[in-house]
Amino acid sequence: MSTLPKRRPRRATHPTPEPLYRLATAFWSSGVLFAAHRLAVFEVLHARPRTVAELAGVCGLTPDGAGKLLAACQSLGLVSCDVGGLYRNSPPADVFLVPGKPTYQGHLLAYLADLWTRFGELEYLLQTGEIGPRETAFTLARPDAERQTAERNWVLAMHEIALGGQAEALCQAVDLSGYTRLLDVSGGSGAYAIRFAEQYPQLTAEVLDLPEVVAIADGLIQQSGVGDRVRVLAGDFVNADYGVGYDVVLLSGVLHGLGERYILRVLKKAYAALNSGGCVIVQEMTPDAPSPAAVQFAALFSLNMMSGGTYSAEQIALWLNQSGFLRIVVTPLKQAWWFDHVVVGRKP
Ligand SMILES: C[S@@+](CC[C@H](N)C(=O)[O-])C[C@H]1O[C@@H](n2cnc3c(N)ncnc32)[C@H](O)[C@@H]1O
Repeated sequence: MSTLPKRRPRRATHPTPEPLYRLATAFWSSGVLFAAHRLAVFEVLHARPRTVAELAGVCGLTPDGAGKLLAACQSLGLVSCDVGGLYRNSPPADVFLVPGKPTYQGHLLAYLADLWTRFGELEYLLQTGEIGPRETAFTLARPDAERQTAERNWVLAMHEIALGGQAEALCQAVDLSGYTRLLDVSGGSGAYAIRFAEQYPQLTAEVLDLPEVVAIADGLIQQSGVGDRVRVLAGDFVNADYGVGYDVVLLSGVLHGLGERYILRVLKKAYAALNSGGCVIVQEMTPDAPSPAAVQFAALFSLNMMSGGTYSAEQIALWLNQSGFLRIVVTPLKQAWWFDHVVVGRKP
């Protein structure tokens, strides 16, 4: 008589709390990164590797504080330590966190650190739709000098996003051959207008943004090799007359700051400014992003917006169509880390 193998009792699979712990403590990692950056740790270690005691002396930390900070940075892959106790930057920290390097992403870090308070008061924002009582980023409650620094960081942060691969991704996604005039509406630092002008020698570009922003953009444009073909225009994109005769209107990262009414208004102004055969280019982060990480990014990013939010590429295409644009092409940007879709519409 054969005996059947005994069936193992089925174990109920309980979820573990680990993912929750990771989420709940994620702010520790951001806090370490922001503090080390503000304390110039990466700049100091770029000059030469240091011991804990040396770093404490140069950065003005207690020896205990320096030891804990460096150990935390090491655990996050930001620095490494050799057997002699000398700390040095990891390759990503050395490439992206040392001021003065063309690859520097430190203004973006400073801007993200500025959003810390908003996320600490998220319930207030969600309950009222208003910024929280303690949130100061960009608000008039902040002393002038502080606010100006925060605003400058923001503009330079946008520049760093563009230089970090976004401008290249956009440039690869669209073909502006044969076009000669581009208007970059709310163009921020002018990074995309500069990149397009570099790519297309026949192209001239205008960067429209608020006066304090175009003052910064103008400096960056003058430092570029295309300062003779890119210029700035100070104005309010909701009310300004965009003029006429453009081949391309670029709206990069603009729609997510607006609600539907203003989006349609801006798109109609873009349409009126374009020549027949010209195109509007919208670059955005979207909830229908091409990777799970980008979908998550768009969902979290949306919480930064007081008005507006992130919209699907399909919704953006619909708005373009409602504004008169035809032959709409939606392109996912798989290699970009900030904006994940480009939507292009043609004026018939
Ligand atoms: C998210 S940023 C995008 C900037 C740039 N297009 C980019 O992709 O890097 C939004 C831009 O809108 C500009 N902006 C906000 N309100 C504006 C207004 N009323 N008129 C013109 N520009 C405005 C901001 O100064 C900022 O440069």
